[in-house]
Formats: sequence, C-alpha cells, structure tokens
Amino acid sequence: MSGTVILLFGATGDLAKRKLFPAIYSMYREGKLGENFAVIGLARRPRTNEQFRQDVLESIQEFGRYKSVGDTDWTSFAERFNYMPLDINDVNGFRQLRVLVEELDGKYETGGNRLFYLALAPDLFGSVSFNLRDGGLLDTKGYHRLVIEKPFGYDLESAEKLNAQLRQVFEEKDIYRIDHYLGKEMVQNIEFVRFANAFFEPLWNNKFIANVQITLSETVGVEERGGYYDKSGALRDMAQNHMLQMLTMIAMEPPSRLHPEDIRDEKVKVLRSLRGFASAEDVRENVVRGQYGEGELKGKPLPGYRSEPNVNPASATETFFAARVFVDNFRWAGVPFYVRTGKRLPVKTTEIVIEFKNVPDNVYLSRKHSLEPNLLVFRINPMEGIYFKMNAKQPGSEGVLVPVALDFCQSCVVGINTPEAYERLIHDASRGDSTYFTRWDEVAHAWQFVDQIADAWTKLGSEDLAFYPAGSWGPKRAQELLENDGFKWWPVN
Ligand code: BG6
Repeated sequence: MSGTVILLFGATGDLAKRKLFPAIYSMYREGKLGENFAVIGLARRPRTNEQFRQDVLESIQEFGRYKSVGDTDWTSFAERFNYMPLDINDVNGFRQLRVLVEELDGKYETGGNRLFYLALAPDLFGSVSFNLRDGGLLDTKGYHRLVIEKPFGYDLESAEKLNAQLRQVFEEKDIYRIDHYLGKEMVQNIEFVRFANAFFEPLWNNKFIANVQITLSETVGVEERGGYYDKSGALRDMAQNHMLQMLTMIAMEPPSRLHPEDIRDEKVKVLRSLRGFASAEDVRENVVRGQYGEGELKGKPLPGYRSEPNVNPASATETFFAARVFVDNFRWAGVPFYVRTGKRLPVKTTEIVIEFKNVPDNVYLSRKHSLEPNLLVFRINPMEGIYFKMNAKQPGSEGVLVPVALDFCQSCVVGINTPEAYERLIHDASRGDSTYFTRWDEVAHAWQFVDQIADAWTKLGSEDLAFYPAGSWGPKRAQELLENDGFKWWPVN
C-alpha cells in the first residue's frame, strides 16, 4: 500500500488517547499501515517527542486491543511519532510544519500523501484548512485527505457555512466525515445480511415488516462533557448522525454496485424520503424529549442532569430522544421506524429490531395461543451478533407454541479481536475508500430533518420536556409512542 503522513490535530485530547493511538497501533500490528508512514501530533501544549511517544505507549497499554507492545519492534513504531506544538491560527507555524512533514515524507517514503485528522472542535476546521493551504502543506503530488469528527455543524445553516469553508480548500472526494457508528462491524454487516441472503430481501418491505425499532442506550451521564452536551443534546449528539445513519442502512435500496458513491446515493434517497413534520404539534405527537433527574443504577445513587458539572442548573436540554419516523417511499409506506436514545438508561446497548407482521393466526386461535411476531435483531454494541426469534412447537407438548431463538453471537466467536471502528475508518481513509463516511448531501438532509424538530421545540418552549429518573427507560411517553400503534419496545438484550 502507498504510504502516508498522518497529521493529527488535537493530539493531546481524549479521542487521540482513547481511540486514535490504539487504532494506529493495531493497524500497524496487523500490517495494515505498512512501513511507509509517520504520525505528527499537533496541539497547542508544548510536549517533546519523547513525552509524546510515552503518551502513545500509555494510551495503547490502557485502551488498545493489543496492550502489550513486546511482540513488535516498538522503537521502530515509536520513532515515527513526532510532536509539534502549533497555534492553529498562525500560518507561520504551518510553514514550519511543512518542513517537518517534508522531512518525514523523505525519510519514510510516503509519496507526498497526507492524511489530516482533525480531532478538534468544528469551529476550528475552517482556519485549519485555510492554513494548511496557505502554509503550503497541500503542495505535493500525493493525496491530501481531510478526516473530521462530528458534530458537523449545529444546524443546516452552520453546517453549510462550514462545508463552504472546507470546499474552498478540499474537494468533496477528499473530505472524510467520520460517524464512528459506520465503522462498527455490525453496522457494516446490515448491508451484507440484507443483500446476501435470499430469505430477508423478499420480506424487506411494508408487506411483511410491521415496524423497526432502533435503540441506542447509554448508562453514562454527560461525564466531563457538560459544556458541549448542554448546547447539543441527544437530538444533535446522537440522532442527527448515528441514529439516522443506522436507519438509512436498514431502509436503503440495494445499490447497483458496491461502490462508495452508489451506496451513498441510496442512503441519501432514504434521508430525502423521511417524512417531515407539518407543525410543532406534529412534532409533539411524534417526538419525545426527556431529561434525567436524580435516580439510581445498580444501587448507586446518581445526580440529575442539572447538577452535572458545566450544565446550566435550569437547563432544558434533552438527554433522551425518541421518535416515530416514516420513510415515505414505495418500500416503506406505512411502516413506523421508532428510534430512541438516551443517557443514564438502564443498559449500554445498541440494537435494531425488525418486527415482522404476523402470519394469519387463525390456525392457532382455537388453541388460545397468542402468536409472537418474528423478530430479527441486529446487536450492534457492545455485544455483536444477529438474533432471530421464531415460533416452534414446544418439544413434548400437545402443540404448545413457544418462541425460540436462533442466535449468532459474533463477538463470542471473534472475541476481543474485532477491529475497533476507528481502525477500520482510518484504514479506509488511508486507502481512499469513503463508503463508511458521510457525504455532504447526507449531512445536509439529516440536518434538515433534525432542524424541524429543534425549531418546533423552540416554539413549544420546554413544555413537552419530560423528566425521567436516572437509571430508567426514559419518559413514559416513549412507551406510549408505540402503544398507540399497538406495538411495544422489545426488551433489549
Ligand atoms: C458519540 C457521542 O458520538 O457517541 C457520545 O458524542 C456517545 O455522547 C458516543 O457517548 C457513543 O458511542 P459508543 O460507540 O460508545 O456507543
């Protein structure tokens, strides 16, 4: 594979420590980076190369899939990590950076390829891009790719502005917008399960599917991120990106080829087909927002959201979001997609449940059995697998029907060695595969959808904000959303 210099902005931050250093090391261990690469850590804080390499080592030991570095030539890996303090508003610093990159480019024969990874707040993306250009860092014949973290803007308007800035410097094909859920093994697997199996695709429509349920629940609160989260809330933090992305993977049409643009075209069509909301009243009926109050989880008392650090004590920010969403196209007409996400819920899990319509159950009615619907469950996180619930005769009974489970636990088989989402995404970006990154039009449509909800909430004030005890499944209205349609949330595993 061709080489690259990875320029990591935000190298002293949490993401670099928890995810990026370990991911780069795992890729190196598995030969996915080859030998022609170097990493430059950039942040404001002064740090020597030695200190930086020590940070990298500690991060791998604490968070890596490969915690021991003993089996590799650690020196050869570590010497590729260089650090340079940088004020990202000062183009002179970028000129110095250029000298360093060129030196490493020559030393490790990286062919002028550069991967700029911006683990920074989005309001800095614009100035970094301009300074990369003005500092001469894009004047090579290799590739120049920009990898950026969410959130991509705060609403459609700010996202458009941000995009316009980036596009002055980078082409769309070179912008890799990360949604780390798209790097998760089981999210990628949705497409394979759907399109590679004869027994799902014929049933994958409104004739056979009763509803789809997407749950992304977390036990954690806002932790140290109160400052960011209080301005964002669950709608912008989780729904605009991870949840809508998973929804598109479930709802998209089969692409004509497995090419990045063909897949992304199909995803955009889903986002375009999302039913809008007619009024604030319509939002109130179909969307639930909640905030956790005091509560407890596994016997441990937990504070309410408003008492968390850096959170406004009168905050109306939602920590729970649920909605009934419709994809108004031929395949999905009339099928509700229920989505929910929240902090301080009873379990950490991400699951997608496809509930099938019942077969005509008149045969079994005489026996007073109630027929449970068939379920197909994608377990995304932390357990990975697929689970299929069907009905069968209880062995030895006089025709008693019982639900039985066909359970494929992928994480049980592959165990801890499933590559982390970030490994896959950095690897994909380094080889120019943008399939699992969000294209601008996807981001724009997602914001358009989310903005309608946010605008309605502004109109409604906080009158529909419901409080739920930390450690519970959110406001009661989230249950009613389904009950009113004759459904229920299936318990998560
Ligand atoms: C991030 C959100 O994008 O995803 C966080 O900003 C959230 O608030 C996290 O905790 C969840 O990711 P995962 O991979 O732990 O489910």
